[in-house]
Amino acid sequence: MQSKKSRLDRYLSVKTGTPKGDIRLLLAQKRVQVDGRVATDAQQVIDQFSHIALDGEILQSNIRRYVMLNKPVGVVSATKDDQHTTALDLLSEYNNGEFYAPDLHIVGRLDLNSSGLLLLTNDGEWSRYLMSPENKVAKVYEVTVENPITDECIQAFNDGIYFPFEGITTKPAKLECISECVGRVTLEEGRYHQIKRMFGRFRNPVLKLHRSAVGKFQLDDELLPGQAKTLSDQRIVSGKLSPDS
Ligand code: URA
Repeated sequence: MQSKKSRLDRYLSVKTGTPKGDIRLLLAQKRVQVDGRVATDAQQVIDQFSHIALDGEILQSNIRRYVMLNKPVGVVSATKDDQHTTALDLLSEYNNGEFYAPDLHIVGRLDLNSSGLLLLTNDGEWSRYLMSPENKVAKVYEVTVENPITDECIQAFNDGIYFPFEGITTKPAKLECISECVGRVTLEEGRYHQIKRMFGRFRNPVLKLHRSAVGKFQLDDELLPGQAKTLSDQRIVSGKLSPDS
């Protein structure tokens, strides 16, 4: 499906029969919302999946898509890549195109050599909600490390670890020991290579990393690596953003 891009002022003018000059006034008066945010830029690019409202009245409701993919190791969390198979390639090639939509974006990347739950959507509001640290949505990972997990490491995950590059301290993370070298990590944020860097502080290389849940969305056990399914959870389709609601 091709994306039909248009400028916001052109779209509003045609849709409401209002001259373009008056559209600028509507925008200045903050009466227009695009994807849940007040829109003031007449040149903002919108498409057929943009959710557009004027004075609270919906002018265009997008078809929202929510997909769960079991990302295999070696697949890149991107929509396009010259070298590797991408998550979107998987949706089109390996699932007979059933879940494919070019406007999907990834909700929280997984590294190339990590596997597991990858959510994709065209609903920017939902993905922002899930990824925003202030919403404290838990992401759960099963991790296999080279050396035994120590109490010191568990404590440091809980206390937070300083990342000098970003100048931040990680938020409290739960590290549970499943066996000597296997743990379950629960994070409420998603910094670049966060888990690997946290174990790296203890010179304990991560051998395997698999995400099993994001909020209430658990990776479906029946999905083999590379397989996907559409989420038709009523809590999502009814427009409620919180997976906890
Ligand atoms: N932490 C990492 O280091 N890698 C991931 O893919 C996810 C979390």
